[in-house]
Amino acid sequence: MYNVLLFCDPGIDDSLAIMYALLNPKVNVVGIVSSYGNVPQQQAIQNVAYLLQLAGREDIPIIAGARSPLSGEIAIFYPEIHGEEGLGPIRPPDTVQREVVNFDEIFKIINNYAHNIFIVDVGRSTSLAIAFLLGGEEQLRKVRAIYSMGGAFLVPGNVTSLAEANFHGDAIAANLILDKGRNVYITPLNVTNYAIIKPENIVQITSQPFNSFSHLIKPIFDYYNDAYKKLDPSLSGSPLHDVFTIFALVNPQQIRYVNREASVSINFDNTKGVSMADFRPRSTEETTEATDFIAISFNYQAFVEDFIQVMTSKR
Ligand code: RIB
Ligand code: CA
Repeated sequence: MYNVLLFCDPGIDDSLAIMYALLNPKVNVVGIVSSYGNVPQQQAIQNVAYLLQLAGREDIPIIAGARSPLSGEIAIFYPEIHGEEGLGPIRPPDTVQREVVNFDEIFKIINNYAHNIFIVDVGRSTSLAIAFLLGGEEQLRKVRAIYSMGGAFLVPGNVTSLAEANFHGDAIAANLILDKGRNVYITPLNVTNYAIIKPENIVQITSQPFNSFSHLIKPIFDYYNDAYKKLDPSLSGSPLHDVFTIFALVNPQQIRYVNREASVSINFDNTKGVSMADFRPRSTEETTEATDFIAISFNYQAFVEDFIQVMTSKR
């Protein structure tokens, strides 16, 4: 069982990742840090609260994360991909009310599960960077690994021609995580762009009311899929970047990584948010504390089958 502290910005693929994590028998979600990113922070919190209520998992603490990047830039949101409220056409009912807990709950959770906890960060990395800054490196060393969805190595970006949205959204934070984090596993666009779920997979997942999320999945996926279709009409479905990152954590045998020290451009020019690593062949694959693990390929069939199996479970 993987104890997971999830940092996210739901967002449609984040929401599907939350559902996937809650339904997955290999995952124990021990807290959700909800921040600005695809939508403003308050909306992201409301979306997490709604999903946890649907699942009957109000025992999982919601931690209020950052509202804007470390640089002080004004955050840009993406309603054209995720909908005005982040769940496509779905608006969480106003009756969903949840207390959020203070930021230092992050350290209590890490201490409770010390050395047996994983951080999965599928949003802008601002909140995780703040946790580093407040808690110090020794706190974060109690985490077994950090899985970070971000970057675009050897492929184009998705918010600029060079940069991916999470790393570009807070380049300083992303670079800090890659620099200071230990055991950082990166799931960049070069793999997540291929983590495609097709409309026919969604029909299969929603053909019966398998669980408390079944009715939500098709409308939010269809919204996201329409947006991706506009971006690239040749796509046969949509990439679930954030779901893939949790899949990678709990199915390590299905992913291939290269071991390299990665960084993110923090220049405020057209390189902002660009992920970098030296991919030239090396004589040794030895790792050091600075080594990051960059996903470069995966078993697509296993991803799709696992997604369908988890999303149709009754957990
Ligand atoms: O680039 C993909 C990432 O940006 C995902 O985390 C998605 O939710 C968006 O925010
Ligand atoms: Ca996200």
